[in-house]
Amino acid sequence: MEACCRYCGFCKQLDRAAVVLLAKMKTVENDMEQKRTATLDLGNGSLPLEFPIMAGSMGPEVVDIRSLHARSGVFTYDPGYFSTASCSSKITFIDGDAGILLYRGYPIEQLARQCDFMEVCYLLMNGELPTSDQKMSFDNTIKEHTMVHEQLARFYTGFRRDAHPMAVMVGVVGALSAFYHDAMDISDAAQRELSAFRLVAKLPTITAMAYKYNIGQPFIYPHNNLNYAENFLHMMFATPAEEYKSNPVLARALDRILILHADHEQNASTSTVRLSGSSGANPFACISAGIACLWGPAHGGANEACLNMLEEIGDVSRIGEYIKRAKDKNDSFKLMGFGHRVYKNFDPRAKLMRETCHEVLNELGLQNDPLFKLAMELEKIALEDEYFISRKLYPNVDFYSGIVQRALGIPVSMFTAIFAMARTVGWIAQWSEMISDPEYKIGRPRQLYTGAATRDVVTIALRK
Ligand code: ACO
Repeated sequence: MEACCRYCGFCKQLDRAAVVLLAKMKTVENDMEQKRTATLDLGNGSLPLEFPIMAGSMGPEVVDIRSLHARSGVFTYDPGYFSTASCSSKITFIDGDAGILLYRGYPIEQLARQCDFMEVCYLLMNGELPTSDQKMSFDNTIKEHTMVHEQLARFYTGFRRDAHPMAVMVGVVGALSAFYHDAMDISDAAQRELSAFRLVAKLPTITAMAYKYNIGQPFIYPHNNLNYAENFLHMMFATPAEEYKSNPVLARALDRILILHADHEQNASTSTVRLSGSSGANPFACISAGIACLWGPAHGGANEACLNMLEEIGDVSRIGEYIKRAKDKNDSFKLMGFGHRVYKNFDPRAKLMRETCHEVLNELGLQNDPLFKLAMELEKIALEDEYFISRKLYPNVDFYSGIVQRALGIPVSMFTAIFAMARTVGWIAQWSEMISDPEYKIGRPRQLYTGAATRDVVTIALRK
């Protein structure tokens, strides 16, 4: 056959052959990419083991060591999960070194400035931002579920009036599990969604009721003409004797707090919700477990602890003394609202929160708020200090959120409860993602046992 040009049949065949060859090479390349492995030599004379490397859409690759124990008899050791990915997830992405936070791929800055909390809830639950029709329908669905069963209100009277709101929240949200027998089948996506609607809708009602019980005022029913943030402020601050008219700047500030706290990938409380849920437990009980975990001062409780710390410092002249204490290894004091396991750069939420802080204080004519000035000075001094620089300790979201909440009239003891209200959508979205994952299994970490070796019981009379 004469091969004269690329248009003759022979040349065309050659072209086609080249294309096929290229495609084959690509497949081999892709296969090689997919089959890239990490080799582990245990140093005990056994053959090295290969483990597949898995790549996500962004962020560090992971080594899949699920077969490690079966193949070698050893476990990995990673208390505090410094290097362990506990699941795969499509919901939230953090690049802690770059200070990036994305919900479903969207930067938190854009969501905070262009969306409201209901849009963000829809996004976290469904994977996409809603159209205006979808948004309207979602808003209405949430509003349909804002009331709580009248019998749930009786739970509050079982608590002391001075109980911490988070103690009340753990109990009352857990108690929701006893109320919804119509949505017990967690393998049914529609029932899971119904539980999510109920949780997102009722959390503001339950949170505001915890406050009203604490101060001895009657509970205020939700008002479905108001948006999510306005409704919460109404339930917090209205009384049967007096309507509460919310200030749009303050309602928007609360809405931003809710957006910024809505999800944060596999943090301690979210991992608690996933671990509780992995046994097939009731979703309301799982969220209650998440609230319990969030309460701690190293996690969500930091906003309360941070404001208490600022009040304790009291004056710019005392900052040096507290910075010294934070650096002293013999002193358990830490600069609350500073440091983060993942962010080794500015927490992007802290920047947005500082912006909101300015807006709220300006609106209220509190530009010279002494606590805000103190916080800004403390931040400045810490960021110039070698101890904080070398450890990459930056302000986290909780550093400024307390000042905003305080300006909104929310008492310090309620700060973490509001965090829980915001995070509920993230918890339930992560829970639902886990349940619908075909690879999901009960979470069961292993351990390095360091206790007594096997020994025999000595009868009580002979024990020394
Ligand atoms: N003040 C003073 N020193 C600190 C602080 C702080 N706030 N945070 C960390 N350090 C020091 C540690 O003492 C440690 O020093 P070393 O290396 O000399 O031992 C080093 O920085 C690393 O800190 P770790 O505690 O090992 O970091 P880890 O990732 O385990 O902890 C945490 C992160 C819990 C957030 C910690 O920074 C902290 O306790 N911060 C204060 C509480 C807080 O603001 N929590 C809110 C976190 S955000 C959120 O959950 C919403």
